[in-house]
Amino acid sequence: MKKLFSIVIIALLIFGCAKNETTIVDKETIIDLKVDSLLALMTLDEKIGQMTQVRHFDSINNNEIATKFIGSVIHTEGPSPGEDAVGWQAKFVSLQKQALSTRLGIPLLFGVDAVHGQNTFNGATIFTHNIGMGATGNAKLVEEAAAITAVEAQATGFNWVFSPCIAIPYNEKWGRVYEAFSESTELTQKLAKASVRGHQGDLSKSNTVMATVKHYIGDGSTDFGVEGGETSITMQEVNKRLLPPYIDAVNEGVGAVMVSFNTLSGKAMHAHKKMITNVLKDSLGFDGIVLTDWKGYSRFGENDIVNAGIDMVMAVDGDLDIFQNGLKNGIDSGYVSMDRVDDAVRRILRQKFRLGLFEHPFPDAGLIAQIGSPAHREKAKQAVRESLVLLKNKNNALPIDKSAKKIVVVGEHANNSGLQSGGWTIAWQGNNENYNGATTILDGIKSIAKGEVIYDEFGTENHSDADAIIVVVGETPYAEFFGDITDDTGKYQLTLTEAHQKYIHKYADKGPKVIVVLISGRPLVVTNQIEQSNAFVAAWLPGSEGNGIAEVLFGDYNFTGKLPHSWPKSVEDFKGMYGPNFWDQSIIPLYKFGYGLKY
Ligand code: BGC
Repeated sequence: MKKLFSIVIIALLIFGCAKNETTIVDKETIIDLKVDSLLALMTLDEKIGQMTQVRHFDSINNNEIATKFIGSVIHTEGPSPGEDAVGWQAKFVSLQKQALSTRLGIPLLFGVDAVHGQNTFNGATIFTHNIGMGATGNAKLVEEAAAITAVEAQATGFNWVFSPCIAIPYNEKWGRVYEAFSESTELTQKLAKASVRGHQGDLSKSNTVMATVKHYIGDGSTDFGVEGGETSITMQEVNKRLLPPYIDAVNEGVGAVMVSFNTLSGKAMHAHKKMITNVLKDSLGFDGIVLTDWKGYSRFGENDIVNAGIDMVMAVDGDLDIFQNGLKNGIDSGYVSMDRVDDAVRRILRQKFRLGLFEHPFPDAGLIAQIGSPAHREKAKQAVRESLVLLKNKNNALPIDKSAKKIVVVGEHANNSGLQSGGWTIAWQGNNENYNGATTILDGIKSIAKGEVIYDEFGTENHSDADAIIVVVGETPYAEFFGDITDDTGKYQLTLTEAHQKYIHKYADKGPKVIVVLISGRPLVVTNQIEQSNAFVAAWLPGSEGNGIAEVLFGDYNFTGKLPHSWPKSVEDFKGMYGPNFWDQSIIPLYKFGYGLKY
């Protein structure tokens, strides 16, 4: 059958050229011909299979990649695919071989949540989360970071990443604020384009990956910042504020769009035909893959989501058979048209051809040496430096004199690469432990300071004789709805914990300069703590290169970061549906979007 497929392609190409000798058959035309001829050979089961994405560790033990004609495999939380990168590649090579052993030999797409570097692999270069990238405002840097992420993702066996998140968060209570670049549509547009370009580059090369913009649409603008909640803003506002980054990403050739968990004016986005088919596909001309989010088929209306325009289903957590049988029944009964299925499969095959997967289905073992390489880490460190926003610097408390006799560092976030990196780091919810290859903020301080550096983790000692106290405080890692701030007694709050407030208060006006470094996935209400400190730095979630922070604190580099969000003054700012942002002009923030001091 594979032979038949090749003959059809060759015949089509020869026929196409012979008709008019001057015709230049471009790459895309050839891909379309290949897609059509392959589609013509496919059975319904094979088509449904292509529309299915499964986890690598379940449902596929008994050769089900082959027997269920699976189109894509995802890695996220769950058993590691292997001991090291060689093992990860080997695992995905073996699954790919299963796919290639089928009648038509259609290769798999391997997708991963590499949202700030290949963050699922312990030892990869972990970049500052997107909110930090937003603070850099540096499109070139975002593009370079994405290209590095692509290399490290490919090196661990993936050809597809579920990134970038181009949400526009309007409420800091949302647990995913840090996954997005900014509350500003314009800044998000600029960085979305850069990120797609960086990940995808020349898509057919072995060191690039297909990118995904997510979560379409309204994920960050739900009422009261609830993950997967209701987005009640008008369609006019959706078009003006939320859609532009998608337009830019589509024009940049992004390969996939992931649909969001929220409802839009009461309608589940997964089943929103107007937004998916009419707007995204027809008006914007998106010709790539529209993917569900987690378990989207059974959660949001089964075949209604296919009819709305979903092309691939994340069929996880028991959804595999529900989806495959459900769609088959839907087609048999005429509820889902064959045209709709063909459109979905055409899009999936088109991306596989664009990625060059039919020619190069396996990862390049030569890339493994680049995982966490010094050059990659240097770029991540640059991102950390550029992401830091100086909110206060009374009497030039910063930079710290490198020759200071005694510097005391306080706070568990100062010496823990897990805490400094946030969610989506090694584990889905992040972790509180150091991981391979990372440097902590304390490591950086120790490597630059010439005098004594004392680490008082929980601020229990008394060092009023110190020249400077560097207090590193902030949020503990979270991801998705776990990080939503639901009420004042919840796990996450808009303010620092009492313990962290005390670290700062203890030394306020006691002699030493108090320098606060805030590690957080969003602006927090820290008005009093800013008041009590001599210098205050918003450092976001810097990732693996914590030592980049010290390079700025000691003045080797100046601050260049600017606030990607308006900064709240009080918890009262969050009484309404949104926080202080472009949206709600009635709230006066403590610092406006774009604020940031320099030396
Ligand atoms: C998240 C997505 C993510 C997906 C796969 C979902 O719960 O909303 O952002 O890509 O899981 O892990």
